[in-house]
Amino acid sequence: MRDLPASYQRKPNKTVEEWRIEMTLSGEKFVEWLDKELEPLRQEVASSPYYDAWCSGKLSKEQVFELMKQRYAYIRENPSIIAAWIAKCPDPETRLKFIDYLHEEAAHPEYLVELAREVGHDPEEMRQAELIPEFTTPYYYYWLLRGHMVEFVAANNFGNERTNTRNTKRMYEASVRYYPFPSLLRINKEHSEEEGGHAELGHYVLERFAITDELQGKATAAAKKSLRLKIIGQNALYERFMKS
Ligand SMILES: [Fe+2]
Ligand SMILES: [Fe+2]
Repeated sequence: MRDLPASYQRKPNKTVEEWRIEMTLSGEKFVEWLDKELEPLRQEVASSPYYDAWCSGKLSKEQVFELMKQRYAYIRENPSIIAAWIAKCPDPETRLKFIDYLHEEAAHPEYLVELAREVGHDPEEMRQAELIPEFTTPYYYYWLLRGHMVEFVAANNFGNERTNTRNTKRMYEASVRYYPFPSLLRINKEHSEEEGGHAELGHYVLERFAITDELQGKATAAAKKSLRLKIIGQNALYERFMKS
């Protein structure tokens, strides 16, 4: 269940069931509420030193390679996670939207394999990349497969990707300026163009399906968790690969 405002008091003549129904927001109001609720965590993610370090332009080619290995080890899992949601999705219209989404995300990992060549490494090194233990997002997404679609979408599209939109443009511009490897530019450009649409898919699904108190509570918990994991992961990447 969502946290209630401290001022809220259940009227003594209402049953718990009546009270739950009364407290359930419409899908539209819930998305609005959730966006505000996530704002402090979004700000914490967006102010991770990871972004400033990238945009400073001071990273060496080897640092960029190590960071992109981590990114690869994460996004390599995206196609199979999204495909699993397509298989589970009960709504035909939403399924079509997920299929478009899969098409956009599925191409990205191979760009980074190409990047390995461009920075003078064996592409196999990229394919074998393993995430550092602090970066647990894709494991969490696999775990969410046992839950409801709104939990995954709240965590991934509405939590994670919507927060990404705050930095994608400046990350791309810094790549053009300081790290102009063709495949890196390609993935960062597509990201800066597509991430807003991926975030909107989150909005679309939550508005339609997170319409019970229980699902709103689960979606909120999943979105918060994914942002907390993102903070831990991004900050750890900074400590390991970027801090000079
Ligand atoms: Fe992506
Ligand atoms: Fe995306």
